[in-house]
Amino acid sequence: MKNYAEVIKIIDGGLKSDPKKVHDYALLLAEKLRSSGEETKADRIIKLVHNLHSIEDINTISSKSTNTKTKQVPFDQESKLEIADYYDPQQLNSITLYLSSFNDQQIDEFIKSYDYSDKLAAHGLDIATTLLLYGPPGCGKTETAFMIAKKLSLPIIVARLDTLISSYLGNTSKNIRLLFEYASQTPCILFLDEFDAVAKLRDDHHEMGELKRVVNSLLQNIDQLGDKCILIGATNHEKLLDQAIWRRFSTRLHIDLPTKDIIKAIIKQYLNDFEGELDEKQIDLLSDLFVGQSISDIEQIVKRGFRKSIIEDREVHLADMVDTFFSFVRLDFEYSNQEDARRMKIRYLLSKLKNPSRRTLGELLRCHHNTISSDLEKIKTNKGDQSVGQP
Ligand SMILES: Nc1ncnc2c1ncn2[C@@H]1O[C@H](COP(=O)(O)OP(=O)(O)O)[C@@H](O)[C@H]1O
Ligand SMILES: [Mg+2]
Repeated sequence: MKNYAEVIKIIDGGLKSDPKKVHDYALLLAEKLRSSGEETKADRIIKLVHNLHSIEDINTISSKSTNTKTKQVPFDQESKLEIADYYDPQQLNSITLYLSSFNDQQIDEFIKSYDYSDKLAAHGLDIATTLLLYGPPGCGKTETAFMIAKKLSLPIIVARLDTLISSYLGNTSKNIRLLFEYASQTPCILFLDEFDAVAKLRDDHHEMGELKRVVNSLLQNIDQLGDKCILIGATNHEKLLDQAIWRRFSTRLHIDLPTKDIIKAIIKQYLNDFEGELDEKQIDLLSDLFVGQSISDIEQIVKRGFRKSIIEDREVHLADMVDTFFSFVRLDFEYSNQEDARRMKIRYLLSKLKNPSRRTLGELLRCHHNTISSDLEKIKTNKGDQSVGQP
């Protein structure tokens, strides 16, 4: 058996409750797998190892590196909570990010412009150091910011907006100043995730002028941030952002819901990771069904589908994914009667798939095509009574 030595050390570490040993030898194993061309397996181990770190572990590591590399992370005077989290680039794991080729290319350009900033400056050219990522949740904004930090080997300082926005009048502007001062001490990425939270100040707990003061303070601090520090903002609600702030970001990327091609690639990656087999036609059907869902939701649906087959110790079936899809979008909870639920699913599938045959519908819903035929008859008769189900 290849890599026997590492496996033994990992088992030993596990039995002796020595997480460091497990961690170190798992990474070594991943490295060996990678060098022998088994990239996916290596990535899975790395993902697992990083997931094993509890938040406290990460904080301990980060506070250790913070002490040596930078000064103490500033905290809100009122709540005494830190207003940011600091992550060293070595701590960050790399995942396969699925982005549109346009976004891929824009991000690549952004990274290169920072990498070659000296050369560009020598020719009198500015570099882009501000990036705004916007779009629906679960499509990779946060992951993209971390990926850029990893690629540029820069620490990433993630603002904790809930702490930053102090309930104490006037403190928010002060916190913003402290945060930007802290970030400007060293080349880094300052990441304002879920940036629209600033707009919360519009609610009536705050005095009218507070939002204006905070926006002004943000604008001032963004303008003064040196070009060694990259500013990334991410928001699910770009409409809530102040126009002047929106304009401060030189690169603005819409990270949208995945296209069918990307969904296919994601399904294939999971089939590879969990050693499942579905044919091209089945993958195509699933991709059509998943269009409109975020990547994070698709991941959960597919993983749940696999979980069931692994527990039952059998191959994964197309219908497993369809089951988890319907329970995920909560369509099947509304019907107490099985037949009504099945008909509702048929109507939904008809609305999402291109002319599925009765056999296909039967395969997706685990029933005989004759049952589908009689359901289709009933649906036809009742047409007009019920509209097509939409989750
Ligand atoms: N574009 C993507 N490529 C790969 N995985 C993704 C992508 N978008 C989301 N995910 C998965 O969903 C999770 C949440 O994504 P995240 O970046 O936090 O989304 P957002 O910040 O847009 O809400 C990630 O940890 C990852 O597992
Ligand atoms: Mg996010």
